[in-house]
Amino acid sequence: MQPIANTQQARAWNGPEGAYWADRYDRFDRLNGGFNDALFTAAAINEHDRVLDIGCGAGQTTRRAARQAGSGQAVGIDISVPMLERARAVAAEEDVTNAVFEEGDAQIHPFPPGGSDVAISRGGVMFFGDHVAAFANIGRALRRGGRLTFICPQMPDPDGQSAQVFAPVNALMREPSPAARGMMSLSDPARVHEVLTAAGFAEVTTTSVAGPVHWGRDADDAADFFFAMSPVRFNLDSVPEQVTAKAREQVTAALRRYETPEGVRLRGAVWLVAATRP
Ligand SMILES: C[S@@+](CC[C@H](N)C(=O)[O-])C[C@H]1O[C@@H](n2cnc3c(N)ncnc32)[C@H](O)[C@@H]1O
Repeated sequence: MQPIANTQQARAWNGPEGAYWADRYDRFDRLNGGFNDALFTAAAINEHDRVLDIGCGAGQTTRRAARQAGSGQAVGIDISVPMLERARAVAAEEDVTNAVFEEGDAQIHPFPPGGSDVAISRGGVMFFGDHVAAFANIGRALRRGGRLTFICPQMPDPDGQSAQVFAPVNALMREPSPAARGMMSLSDPARVHEVLTAAGFAEVTTTSVAGPVHWGRDADDAADFFFAMSPVRFNLDSVPEQVTAKAREQVTAALRRYETPEGVRLRGAVWLVAATRP
């Protein structure tokens, strides 16, 4: 067992919230998968690269990195045991033999110095208590000239489709659930530049990337998924049942407008961040 600095996050991602995500990893992969191509185009992984996937979760991006680095390797690191168990199981099912998964806190994990060519992350780098220390640690894991590429959430656009569809629930949200604390910590590009520069990275860029967010087969399926998500349940637990029922009716009606033969998709946007280790 490696040392952990982010104990609150470790508790949360090893508790019911982490288990919930790991059990429904395929739903979350569909939800976030619309940004994979942008992440992988920017990461430009070569056939021999050694890739590090930070906060790899159930490992969809680690598996893709491993396939792309055919004669290299992808290492997924995560603080959550249920996520890592899922990642190992799916990689074995899909016969991805050059992906390995390690338990650890990326902020302080003793990565082999200079042992990676590329570090990537799909939404796994926002939860550090000390971002500068964490990215400096990730930087030490990269060889000189190595690349860091990740995506992280933007502040919701108040006029965007998601804000409008989920407005009846957003009005009831008081605070992030324990696992979601820190989720928006890198949503300001100025902060991203400041953190990565202080951590020793150069050539930092932040690019807004739009993509489809797949919520479900149809409006009812999408509403089921949304209302069962940990951050939503955490906030609605203390709300009177009839208020939740009304909000659910309104959200389902709004989702109905976005039903297509391919499912319910809302436009979303993330920050695509790239930097290099000088
Ligand atoms: C929002 S999930 C994203 C998971 C995965 N990258 C994906 O796209 O499905 C965030 C992940 O970061 C992990 N995480 C949070 N803090 C971490 C830390 N300090 N070190 C390593 N992993 C961490 C969580 O356990 C979780 O699996």
